Amino acid sequence: MKSVPLFAMFGITLIISCTPKTVPAAATKTITAEYLAQGKTIYDNACKKCHDLPDPKDHSAQDWVGIMNSMAPKSNLTDQQHEMVYDYIVSAIKE
Ligand code: HEC
Repeated sequence: MKSVPLFAMFGITLIISCTPKTVPAAATKTITAEYLAQGKTIYDNACKKCHDLPDPKDHSAQDWVGIMNSMAPKSNLTDQQHEMVYDYIVSAIKE
């Protein structure tokens, strides 16, 4: 068994942000519970490899922008995963 096709796993949700925007970007994205749950799963798995899983509430939403900019590459996240994790973190701060 030399090659197992692994295509079509990703990509479906990539399309969402391409719709025309008539109001500021922050207000147009639909953040569902399912989307946040996916972000949490990525966070839980990717962010405890090198250190304990941080508490989202330890940092402000603004601080998390910079933290994620340095941690997402360490975790080999795609841009979309980066965004999902960030959105999850921000939602967790507000809880
Ligand atoms: C490859 C290892 C590695 C992975 C994976 C990783 N981190 Fe880190 N993280 C570090 C190291 C090393 C530090 C401390 C040095 C630094 O800040 O770069 C750190 C520090 C931090 C800090 C403290 C920053 C501060 O300013 O106090 C936070 C918060 C954090 N990581 C969050 C995350 C999150 C969220 C993820 C998942 C997206 C993640 N890390 C994945 C290695 C990693």
